[in-house]
Amino acid sequence: MVSLTADMSPLHPDRNLALELVRATEAAAIRSVPFIGRGQKELADGAAVDAMRAFLTTVNFDGVIVIGEGEKDAAPMLFNGEKVGTGRGPQADIAVDPIDGTSLTAEGRNNALSVIAVADRGAMLDASAVFYMDKLVTGPAGVGVVDIRLPIAENIHRLAKALGKPVDELVVSVLNRPRHAQLIEDIRAAGAGTRLMSDGDVAGGINAARHNARTDMCVGIGGSPEGIVTACAIKALGGHIQGRLWARDDDEKQRGIDAGLSMDGHVYEADDLVRGKNTIFVATGVTNGELVGGVRREGDFVYTESVVLRGASGTLRRITSEHLTSKWL
Ligand code: FBP
Repeated sequence: MVSLTADMSPLHPDRNLALELVRATEAAAIRSVPFIGRGQKELADGAAVDAMRAFLTTVNFDGVIVIGEGEKDAAPMLFNGEKVGTGRGPQADIAVDPIDGTSLTAEGRNNALSVIAVADRGAMLDASAVFYMDKLVTGPAGVGVVDIRLPIAENIHRLAKALGKPVDELVVSVLNRPRHAQLIEDIRAAGAGTRLMSDGDVAGGINAARHNARTDMCVGIGGSPEGIVTACAIKALGGHIQGRLWARDDDEKQRGIDAGLSMDGHVYEADDLVRGKNTIFVATGVTNGELVGGVRREGDFVYTESVVLRGASGTLRRITSEHLTSKWL
């Protein structure tokens, strides 16, 4: 039974807001077009940030960026703590990633997304003091079945059983990093296949949680902001997500403790990463991916593909748009 009360309250992010937010991720993706495959990731990111911020200022909500481009001094726009929106409408926490996969964009490779996630004010974990988070993401079959505390082989066997498929049909995605060498070996030793991602574990997590997807589980250490953003999408997909903050050294661990975060292997469950079901996740493809196609310029038109996932209703909607090139580029 879907509760409509949250939608109808002016205090909560509602479904109209979701469509407004798509305008901002579309804008970010479109403005990155001149930089796709041009080897200039900072320029691509800068163009996407500018465009996203310009659109966010026009949205009717009272938003605070919990996860942004970083601290105010280093990030002149969309910094953590910045207020966005008109100030009218629902009070909301915002996580932005104008491009998740800046290197993918610069190299013209698959799976770069422009992303915004929104939740009720105070609902998102502010994990910005610690750069990395160890994550475990699956679709609904993994809920109550897998656990990040268990060895990867055990999780693989449990998930295969829950999905009713042989272990050797299971595919686990993981960022291709030296820190994951043992994990990758363990996944393969357990009998599952690996999908090694060069970047972009937001798309990786969502793809693993979708039904009929080519991957069944996404594991390993990626950005902690990406973990919160992914959690907002997983709420709508009914999947499983857990995270553990992963400090690179003692100083970072101390910064985490000072920020009130639980270190030392504490497991953040989905509801700790983002509280409640009232989440909105929107993403527009920058480069092609399994979830959405990338932004495409063809003569007089620019084409975008986006998804909107709403936790309250558990829906994934697709929006395809045609934009006049002359208005944008
Ligand atoms: P950026 O687009 O900010 O570069 O992030 C890309 C990304 O691959 C994320 O998807 C992932 O969470 C993180 O970087 C992993 O960090 P690292 O490249 O340091 O392993």
